[in-house]
Amino acid sequence: MSTGMNRRVHVNDVAPRDGLQMEKHFVPTEDKIAFIDALSDCGFDRIEATSFVSAKAIPALRDAEIVMQRIRRKPGVTYTVLVPNLRGMERAIESRADELNLVMSCSESHNRANLGMSRAGSLGQLLEVVRQAGRAAIRCNVSLSTAFGCPFEGEVPIAEVRRLAGEVMQGGAASLTLCDTTGMADPAQVERVIGAISAAVPLPQLTIHLHDTRGMGLANALAALRSGVQHFDASCAGLGGCPYAPGASGNISSELLVHMLDSMGVESGVDLDRLLDVAAIVPRLIERELPNPLLAAGPRSRRYPLPEGVVRTAEAPLRAA
Ligand code: COA
Ligand code: ZN
Repeated sequence: MSTGMNRRVHVNDVAPRDGLQMEKHFVPTEDKIAFIDALSDCGFDRIEATSFVSAKAIPALRDAEIVMQRIRRKPGVTYTVLVPNLRGMERAIESRADELNLVMSCSESHNRANLGMSRAGSLGQLLEVVRQAGRAAIRCNVSLSTAFGCPFEGEVPIAEVRRLAGEVMQGGAASLTLCDTTGMADPAQVERVIGAISAAVPLPQLTIHLHDTRGMGLANALAALRSGVQHFDASCAGLGGCPYAPGASGNISSELLVHMLDSMGVESGVDLDRLLDVAAIVPRLIERELPNPLLAAGPRSRRYPLPEGVVRTAEAPLRAA
């Protein structure tokens, strides 16, 4: 395993976009705005605020313009938005997005299911968006979905991920995100894929986007961290999932990621206590319960009162909370 771990990394909270896009309950626009404003005060470098996609494809985010118009823009935070095509780019620029997150899949089937066109078609459109956004001085990140496996096709050849990464970077994308859309990655594979694309995508321009569908999310994040990755997508309260990927579920939770980083002495700039306060309101926002291990147990710094009758000694200097 590489030991190129950084002492400072950057977290992009994608809950307002990836998190809310699949929720059945339509989160009222005012609540979305309050949620994003609260995340803005947590110390994230980036927040993926919404999607400028077809309202038929993602009805949950049909209020993208109003959200972008009314959120408080905290200096130092980049407000990025998902864009699938030129129409989305125009809407996003009109709404003063700081950055566009363009998306396509590494596998043909998921690309067709998610975006209704071939990968070649998506790549062509996406590079045109990069060119046009460049003229408006807006930077574009490209997210490659199903980079670690496809729910329809299974294994995705690393050569395909490398080819697409190379084409989008040569086409002028500022940065690239490798997405494990349905939690199919394992830590060894994360290292292999990051190694394979390193010639095309320098580490400072690479983000890793992990879903915890099969419980390997944080293990994969650790593998990425130790491979030198500096940018992580994560989602407040572990919300998330692609409605066009069967079995999809939440992203790695921002609070669990930040808690792990804090424990390891890796700086993220995110205030865990504030973030936990925001995570606590999420079930109310989406009108369903969402198990949250960190809210249940508290951070590892939490201390519990000693049970009644247990004697304190010098060997067990336990203190009450
Ligand atoms: N914003 C708003 N509306 C858009 C749009 C955009 N960026 N792009 C297309 N539309 C509208 C069209 O005007 C059309 O509307 P109409 O039916 O009222 O005429 C409708 O959406 C369908 O557009 P069309 O060009 O026929 O494409 P499509 O139906 O094949 O959909 C996408 C293609 C890419 C627009 C659609 O699949 C999409 O938005 N996908 C995003 C999926 C997503 O966000 N997944 C999760 C994140 S990875
Ligand atoms: Zn995702």
